[in-house]
Amino acid sequence: MTPIKLNLTKLKGRVVAIDGPAGSGKSTTARLLASRLGYSYLDTGAMYRALTYFALRNAISPSDGEKLKVIAKKVPIEFETHEDVNRVFINGEDVTQEIRSQEVTSHVSEVSAHYDVRREMVAKQRRMGRKGSIVAEGRDTTTVVFADADIKIYLDASVRERAQRRLLDMARLGVSTTLEEQEAEIQRRDRLDSTRENSPLTKARDAFVVDTTSLTIEGQVEHIISLIREVFK
Ligand code: DC
Repeated sequence: MTPIKLNLTKLKGRVVAIDGPAGSGKSTTARLLASRLGYSYLDTGAMYRALTYFALRNAISPSDGEKLKVIAKKVPIEFETHEDVNRVFINGEDVTQEIRSQEVTSHVSEVSAHYDVRREMVAKQRRMGRKGSIVAEGRDTTTVVFADADIKIYLDASVRERAQRRLLDMARLGVSTTLEEQEAEIQRRDRLDSTRENSPLTKARDAFVVDTTSLTIEGQVEHIISLIREVFK
């Protein structure tokens, strides 16, 4: 596939926001897209995961909204990108691998559902995106965090396809699990993420919906680049 050419002067300072359910391909797509555009990449889910990891390590319950709010406010979360690898730090500790564990994954939806936690995280995310030239992805980047983004994408894929992708991710991390377990986990997270009271996952009215079920990662990126070219001309 020949990569689509882009007019770089038209790209400066823009915000690209991508939302979608777990396993829809947001992270990989956003990372590659950021690299193609020369933008920074903001993985908002990694921030909720880092907070969840920190809470579990410090014996703070995922249901304790008050204590979680304090950590969300006080404990720094930072990103560093080296050669396309996005590293995440909380309180100076590199937690890039730890935040992908099954334990963090199964508690993060509960942690991220607290109103005060979201408020703190959204403020941090807006500060990180202040200068633009950023691709942000998550569950509420198109509807709340960057509600005025220059382009909004909603990525989707079937539950089966998303579970298959998670299974591969877990295998890469050396975790043995089954397709059925991953399907059940994805359905549980879909339910929690889209039915919660605070900023549930929804399709923004002005978002382009991209179904990735039968697209390769390169195909997804090129498709979004073609949309960007149309919108930013
Ligand atoms: O994209 P992910 O699987 O790394 O996200 C982890 C969790 O964080 C997800 O279950 C919901 C939550 N999340 C959120 O509530 N808002 C965001 N903007 C990003 C993620």
